[in-house]
Amino acid sequence: MSIEITALSKSFGDFPAVNNVNLKVETGEMVAFLGPSGSGKTTLLRIIAGLEFADSGNIFFSGEDVSEKSANERKAGFVFQSYALFNHMTIFENIAFGLRVVPRNKRLSKQEIRECVLSLLDTIQLSGLENRFPVQLSGGQRQRVAFARALAVKPRVLLLDEPFGALDAKVRRELRAWLSEFHNKTQLTSLFVTHDQEEAFEVANRVVIIHNGTIQQIGYPDEVRSKPANSFIHDFLALDI
Ligand SMILES: Nc1ncnc2c1ncn2[C@@H]1O[C@H](COP(=O)(O)OP(=O)(O)OP(=O)(O)O)[C@@H](O)[C@H]1O
Ligand SMILES: [Mg+2]
Repeated sequence: MSIEITALSKSFGDFPAVNNVNLKVETGEMVAFLGPSGSGKTTLLRIIAGLEFADSGNIFFSGEDVSEKSANERKAGFVFQSYALFNHMTIFENIAFGLRVVPRNKRLSKQEIRECVLSLLDTIQLSGLENRFPVQLSGGQRQRVAFARALAVKPRVLLLDEPFGALDAKVRRELRAWLSEFHNKTQLTSLFVTHDQEEAFEVANRVVIIHNGTIQQIGYPDEVRSKPANSFIHDFLALDI
């Protein structure tokens, strides 16, 4: 599914957090939003997810205007850094959560939910751990469970806000590689927020550099590094060219 954003703006009081953003993400792309703290990355992602609403501008999912639709109707899967697992539930129940809360007439059968959860456990390479509780997993394993929970509802797009932010460098690198491989396999259109340029350049097809709520440059990783559009980007990336 493609995502198109046109003239999107959002202020908190008189502070413009997102300022006239225009962006087209093609089906199957993995795009990183890269920018310093407070630049508006999370706000933009939340507006795309339907967790927050813009003051003006529109969002299209494959040509359909979803600007007024709820997060549920948009069917986006999200993984946030702070989106902790439910500690009192097993890994199985955590992943099944989104499948159990749908209205009865749309809900999968018990057996179908079981099959779906077991297949997702296989995807995140945690088969056999379904009866454990979150505290019995490592940080990286927990983060993969958060992914599985987001994927269970068969999202049309995947929105990731610093999903590896709290993890140590080694686990981050492992999860990055895992995410790239996962994306290559599924080709699920994905948006990925980070302030870590190494992460952005390694995982994303294209990078969107954000500063003060506005897009400074959109480009392929090589392009952004070899031809930064302005001095802010040059300094932010600490380029030596
Ligand atoms: N609910 C809110 N009310 C008021 N101001 C807000 C709110 N949410 C965000 N802001 C402000 O909007 C700006 C953009 O915030 P946002 O969370 O989008 O930044 P970010 O790029 O995700 O930063 P970080 O890298 O630190 O997560 C910040 O200046 C922030 O203080
Ligand atoms: Mg943020």
